[in-house]
Amino acid sequence: MGNSLTVYSESEVNDTGLRPKQLSDFTGQARTVEKLRIMTGAARHRHEPLSHILLSGPPGLGKTTLAMILAGEMHSNVHVTSGPVIEKAGDLAGLLTSLEYGDILFIDEIHRLAKTVEEYLYSAMEDFRIDVMIDQGPNARSIRLDVAKFTLIGATTRTGLLSAPLRSRFTLQSRLDYYDVNELSKIIRRSAKLLGIAIEAEATEEIARRSRGTPRVANNLLRFVRDFAHQSKKETITLQEARAALELLDIDPHGLDELDKRILNIMGHHYAGGPVGVHTLAVAVSEEPQTLEEVHEPFLIQEGYLQRTLRGRILTAKGWSFLGLPHEVDLFTSER
Ligand SMILES: Nc1ncnc2c1ncn2[C@@H]1O[C@H](COP(=O)(O)OP(=O)(O)OP(=O)(O)O)[C@@H](O)[C@H]1O
Ligand SMILES: [Mg+2]
Repeated sequence: MGNSLTVYSESEVNDTGLRPKQLSDFTGQARTVEKLRIMTGAARHRHEPLSHILLSGPPGLGKTTLAMILAGEMHSNVHVTSGPVIEKAGDLAGLLTSLEYGDILFIDEIHRLAKTVEEYLYSAMEDFRIDVMIDQGPNARSIRLDVAKFTLIGATTRTGLLSAPLRSRFTLQSRLDYYDVNELSKIIRRSAKLLGIAIEAEATEEIARRSRGTPRVANNLLRFVRDFAHQSKKETITLQEARAALELLDIDPHGLDELDKRILNIMGHHYAGGPVGVHTLAVAVSEEPQTLEEVHEPFLIQEGYLQRTLRGRILTAKGWSFLGLPHEVDLFTSER
């Protein structure tokens, strides 16, 4: 199978830097965490493998982290692979037959699995066996292989792209949401402690506000702010230090990134605030429609800059005021 698979033992899983290692260490996502706590508790009680779990949500919110935590909670080995890497049904068959009872198979970007591969997964997930075709032409026959009872954890940024038969085979489907400033502050405090940095409460909050609701962004900003402080020989990161570092990075005070801002600008300046279809918008900002739908829209909508209507995306009053423009389409929006 070559590079299609990495196997981590339990101890390796527990050694990945800033990643929380236990559910109790994982900040935010209260509903998802509660469901996972119930499932892991019950599975451990019955001495059975966990049932299949699908985690979805924008990048950097903790899908991989949760999968690794689940492996730790279940004391299971975890086999890590990703959708596009499994090219042929044979790759998947090899992978599945190498699993032992209770192992976790983590498939990242599961929405990118080839259709032919995906169909093999159905019987493996449901009946723990696969039918493989061997030989070709007149000698072709299918043999049935047993698969040890395993747990599939799928991660995806696009639940919508998963076929219904695949989706329905997951016992739990849970969506991760953007984190609020309090949750991000807590994550930053924890990371700072692990990195051995002293940071003032105001500086923590400033970084949290500019982290786009995303723990990965928060950790990256914290690392940069730390380097910045060290450069100026500061022992403790103060608000002033944090602000100066974030300004150097061109990080927007509201946490918007370059493309977020470009989207708002184009909507306001070229499309009179919308409605604009996602494809038109994607062409206008030279990005893939998927990236807009997966990464940018959810955040802009959650923060109240955009609204999705039947006819397309429209700027909200907050979107207009971000652009420093009057809310021009007030009269029209009230009719929509
Ligand atoms: N709830 C959390 N508490 C603390 N740290 C977190 C939390 N969620 C994520 N992180 C941190 O953010 C980083 C990104 O998380 P992770 O890799 O799990 O995201 P992901 O959802 O798998 O993203 P992608 O879709 O890009 O694969 C991790 O390295 C981890 O340190
Ligand atoms: Mg991931």
